[in-house]
Amino acid sequence: MHVMSQKPAVPLVHIETFGCQMNEYDSELVRSLLKREGFQFTEDRECADVILMNTCAIRENAHNKVFTHLSDLRSVKKHRPLVVGVLGCMAQNLKAELPEKEPIVDVLAGPDSYRQLPQLITNAMTLQEQGVDQKRLAVELSEYETYDDIVPERNDGVNAWIAIMRGCDNFCSFCVVPYTRGRERSRNPKGILEEARLCAEQGFKQVTLLGQNVNSYSYDTWDFARLLLEVADVPGLERVRFTSPHPKDFPVDLLKAVSSHPNICKHIHLPVQSGNDRVLEMMNRTYTCSEYLSLVDRIRTMNTQIALTTDIIAGFCSETDEEFSDTIRLVETVRFHSAFIFKYSERKNTIAARKYRDDVPEAVKSERVTALVDLQRKISFDRNREYVGSVVNVLVEGNSKRSSDQGMGKTDGNITAVWEKNGTSVRPGDMVPLSIYDSSASTLYGIAQPQPSSP
Ligand code: 5AD
Ligand code: SF4
Repeated sequence: MHVMSQKPAVPLVHIETFGCQMNEYDSELVRSLLKREGFQFTEDRECADVILMNTCAIRENAHNKVFTHLSDLRSVKKHRPLVVGVLGCMAQNLKAELPEKEPIVDVLAGPDSYRQLPQLITNAMTLQEQGVDQKRLAVELSEYETYDDIVPERNDGVNAWIAIMRGCDNFCSFCVVPYTRGRERSRNPKGILEEARLCAEQGFKQVTLLGQNVNSYSYDTWDFARLLLEVADVPGLERVRFTSPHPKDFPVDLLKAVSSHPNICKHIHLPVQSGNDRVLEMMNRTYTCSEYLSLVDRIRTMNTQIALTTDIIAGFCSETDEEFSDTIRLVETVRFHSAFIFKYSERKNTIAARKYRDDVPEAVKSERVTALVDLQRKISFDRNREYVGSVVNVLVEGNSKRSSDQGMGKTDGNITAVWEKNGTSVRPGDMVPLSIYDSSASTLYGIAQPQPSSP
């Protein structure tokens, strides 16, 4: 008997998120936008009618991951009706090629087009039922979209992401974000504060404010320092984090806010990218190495407790061994708590792709990454040693990866800490004082201190 494929009464959607925290947040927005139109979500991709991939375009390997997932879906789609959607930065960036390269993709939506998703998916399902193979695209960038009225459907946990702005106008020459996420725009602070209050009411103990360059947050008379302080004062929020500021314009008011407000985490992620002035100039970072170093000094003079972390790109166009050594020297000088180190990956249409040759051989890029990773591991190891013997407050996230007998949480400076639970119950969201007795390059090991009993 021939069974007609039936349109499901309630379409089940599975969403996979790749890339940065902004994508995590956007997936939560998408969940909210689709749920209010009657879609439901499943963790199980096997029973999903719709699989969405929220993608990242920042480096080649991010692309490759998505292509691997898409090719896995080819065989699934042969056996059952399935709508496949590509969202986010890759959808925006590859709008011309992706539908041809991966014919199984039914829906494409860039970061500013998520309001159109319910309609796009419904149309794709109807067309699929009728046996019509036609792509549905919505990849227009907008100068205004901030999704201000959408309350994200958040993942459980202790942390809630809140986007305070979208897009980027910095045009660092290596970076694809200004092209995939469009022009910079700040959200109304009223909406951000409402969202922060709602997060606190829902039991989130921490919020992380997100923007490509939070220092350029600007709305009427509001700047980022003012916004951060107001969010930190929301009752119930114990920790506020933010990422990322740009080193070119770090205002003193922001430094004062971080330094003095007890709820604002003593952690600043300050991407440096390179320690050489010629390379920084080619990267269009608009600061010099010595300007960066004097900012580091200012931060540390203001508050010695502030942990600094960074991003570095190794093997940018025409970077010489000597110029790379400048980056090594900068890392030795600053002694970051930790660092994300990336191999330069040329992205189509960026300024660097148009102006410069990606001429550092792959093997040299790899050597430089390894040298930096090794150096940073030693520094992180030494820095973490400094906590041994002290008591640090840890916000509990859950169990450690290794064992359900161990708790895991983060320090104010965002370092992972673990401890033996010894039969005691710890709940995500609890703040636990840990007496640190050992450490590695990535983890502090502690003993939970008895907490003062509540009156
Ligand atoms: N190649 C390698 N790393 C990159 N990043 C951004 N674009 C590229 C690229 N083309 C890194 C930068 C940035 C971080 C989010 O990703 O270090 O700070
Ligand atoms: Fe990319 Fe630079 Fe904007 Fe960061 S600030 S998103 S690195 S262009």
